[in-house]
Amino acid sequence: MSEETNQQRPEDLISRINTAYGNFDREIELIPDTSASLEDSAKHLLEVRNLRIKYLGKKSELAIQRKLIRSIDPHRRGEAGSSIQKFEQTINQRIDDKERTLKTSIEKTRTDRESIDVTIPGRRSRPGHLHPITLMRQRIEDIFVSLGYAVEDDREIETDFYNFDALNIPEGHPARDPQDTFYTTEGFALRSQTSTVQIHAMQRRGAPVRMIAPGRVFRRDTPDPTHNPMFFQVEGLCVDRGITMAHLKGTLQEFVHRLFGPETSTRFRPSYFPFTEPSAEVDYSCFNCGGPGCRICKWSGWIELGGSGMVHPNVLRAAGVDPEEFTGFAFGLGIDRTCARIYELDDIRLLFENDVRFLEQFR
Ligand code: DAH
Repeated sequence: MSEETNQQRPEDLISRINTAYGNFDREIELIPDTSASLEDSAKHLLEVRNLRIKYLGKKSELAIQRKLIRSIDPHRRGEAGSSIQKFEQTINQRIDDKERTLKTSIEKTRTDRESIDVTIPGRRSRPGHLHPITLMRQRIEDIFVSLGYAVEDDREIETDFYNFDALNIPEGHPARDPQDTFYTTEGFALRSQTSTVQIHAMQRRGAPVRMIAPGRVFRRDTPDPTHNPMFFQVEGLCVDRGITMAHLKGTLQEFVHRLFGPETSTRFRPSYFPFTEPSAEVDYSCFNCGGPGCRICKWSGWIELGGSGMVHPNVLRAAGVDPEEFTGFAFGLGIDRTCARIYELDDIRLLFENDVRFLEQFR
């Protein structure tokens, strides 16, 4: 008898399930099929998983009612079982569908995000360029290299010996004054002229030697439109048997021809440098007006190129070269000064301020 009362009917099971699943439709429809952000989609996917646990999991009403099938009249158990199975399939199908739609939407958002819009204008990278002083230095180097000169790159920190003594400027000599420089540790100073490399080159290579040495030099000058405490020079040195002043003139003449054009002429004015004898100041005819005078040559028709002369026997001797066997010429030109002339800069400091708007004009 007690078995009778405990006996369940398939209708009871189904009605309990129907009650428990009354909200299922609303709950699953509340979860959107798509969303704009991946974060939201992931959240919705989690909601679907929770629905699956709630309605199909071990503690779901379906699981509870399925266990009760045992207590149904054996004749009607099959009916109950297939009803429950059909119901479960429907719920399962709906949850699967929702999950698939959401996953497709996530995939689509991902591909959209990673895809490249080939119609968007590109970001242009700004190519770098050489500094006008570097451009000038390279032009000068090219000319001398084609004349058979080696390019020497030597130290900027020097001893008194290389900056002065070996260049025939002994201690106390007045020529040291205008070349006062910056001193570092005892006995060392920043070179005030590239003439130092004459000595190094002769010591290293001996004679004969033909070299140019471009580089930085330093002087205790107050910056103004025509001075800077750091500037650039090119030193030139040619030592061999039988070198004369004619070689010096011919070489610099050829140099200005190649740099400024074949109509350029040179002029040598007697001068004095301790390391040359005789010494000369070199001018070239103005590349702009060619002689009559203009703003660039300050109405003189000539522009100063630099100093030059025949290497003093004392200098050859100091560098270990026999002045009885060898003679030579040397010259020193200002790179930035020439640069400022060519580009008509009225303030040499513009070259050292590193303002890209200024520098990028000289490519
Ligand atoms: N060193 C000199 C200066 O800085 C320039 C110079 C003059 C270099 C005559 C030379 C030369 O080689 O022969 O003012």
